[in-house]
Amino acid sequence: MTKQIAILGSTGSIGKNALRVIDSLGPEYKIVALSAHSKVELLAEQARRYKPKFVAITNSDYAEQLREFLGDLDIEILVGPEGLIEIAELQEMDILLTAVVGAAGLPAVLAAGRKGKRLAIANKEPLVIAGELLRKEIEKNGGVILPVDSEHSAVFQAMQSGSKEQVNKIILTASGGPFRQATAEDILNVTLEQALAHPVWDMGPKITIDSATMMNKAFEIIEARWLFDISVEKIEVLIHPESIVHSIVEFVDGSMIAQLGEPDMCLPIQYALTYPERVAGIARALRLEEIGTLTFEKPNLQTFRALSLGYEVARTGGTAPVVFNAANEAAVEGFLASRIKFVNIVEIIENCLNRHNVKPTVSLEDVLEADAWARREVTELACSV
Ligand SMILES: NC(=O)c1ccc[n+]([C@@H]2O[C@H](COP(=O)([O-])OP(=O)(O)OC[C@H]3O[C@@H](n4cnc5c(N)ncnc54)[C@H](OP(=O)(O)O)[C@@H]3O)[C@@H](O)[C@H]2O)c1
Repeated sequence: MTKQIAILGSTGSIGKNALRVIDSLGPEYKIVALSAHSKVELLAEQARRYKPKFVAITNSDYAEQLREFLGDLDIEILVGPEGLIEIAELQEMDILLTAVVGAAGLPAVLAAGRKGKRLAIANKEPLVIAGELLRKEIEKNGGVILPVDSEHSAVFQAMQSGSKEQVNKIILTASGGPFRQATAEDILNVTLEQALAHPVWDMGPKITIDSATMMNKAFEIIEARWLFDISVEKIEVLIHPESIVHSIVEFVDGSMIAQLGEPDMCLPIQYALTYPERVAGIARALRLEEIGTLTFEKPNLQTFRALSLGYEVARTGGTAPVVFNAANEAAVEGFLASRIKFVNIVEIIENCLNRHNVKPTVSLEDVLEADAWARREVTELACSV
């Protein structure tokens, strides 16, 4: 049976990989909608090739240009952030793959949850800031949420070996990023170029910086907490520089079930699209004899303060994760624009958290308010570094 897929963020790293996966899956998989923020030429190119019914451009400055590019095609053009919500609610869509970056994906993800859609979620930030709200919507409306993040896809696959009650712990693996062996002193003078040079994964700039600070792993702890409805105490992180074991679930009998594969996002993307089926795909199968050795080590919480903050924030809950995420988005933007130093990113986030009065339970309004507050705070804190 035909599956109609919508991709939010089709011009990004995950979005482009998803289109490659869909090409390989054959004519049964059709594109019903695509979106981009500002890469208007690439979006137009994708639209010409896949002929979706809808395209959305969230940065309205590029709307006119997109209309010119696509004027001869029968494609409805949606403009602004609301376009993502319209796509998320499409009646004819079978799977929504969310691959936009940051909290900007939240309204669409929640809209899909309210409509009981099948959600393949790469965009982790909405889960970090509103995981509980999203879970409730999905449960209430009979939706399905399938992780695309490689670690969470691995956990999801391993979880199928037992029941949730039989899980002792989840071990999220982390490559350690470019500064795995760096000392706190080394980190002081890291350049943008160094921070963007991830040793294993080829990803968009924001998540690459998040991997270098290990904020990404901190987010993944919170993401796992909500995706699998599991307490933070049962989530561990292990550094695994080869990035072959994508994560592990330890069951009460002591069995550890892991998922292994090449570090290639095509595999978890494909699994989220074809689940519960497994089909031959474009990801290269692993040759363990070529890898030889797999290593694991405990993370250094002194060098990677982000990770210990992540645990604290996950335990605190309420609006703390919202501030944690928004402060990070604003600080990373500052670092990418060379306004602050690498080392300032986590310092600013910590300062921002210290200034925040946490609200224990969160509504969508609380999320939006705390998010806006944290972004303003970061502007102020960044001026003083
Ligand atoms: N890349 C990976 O391997 C990977 C792995 C696991 C999880 N993830 C998660 O997947 C998400 C996407 O990551 P990525 O690396 O693919 O990011 P990316 O390459 O930066 O792509 C982001 C996508 O979102 C769009 N976008 C940017 N700002 C937006 C906004 N304000 N509103 C709506 N759309 C916006 C971009 O459009 P333009 O291209 O037009 O700017 C692009 O299509 C992130 O949440 C990330 O944490 C990524």
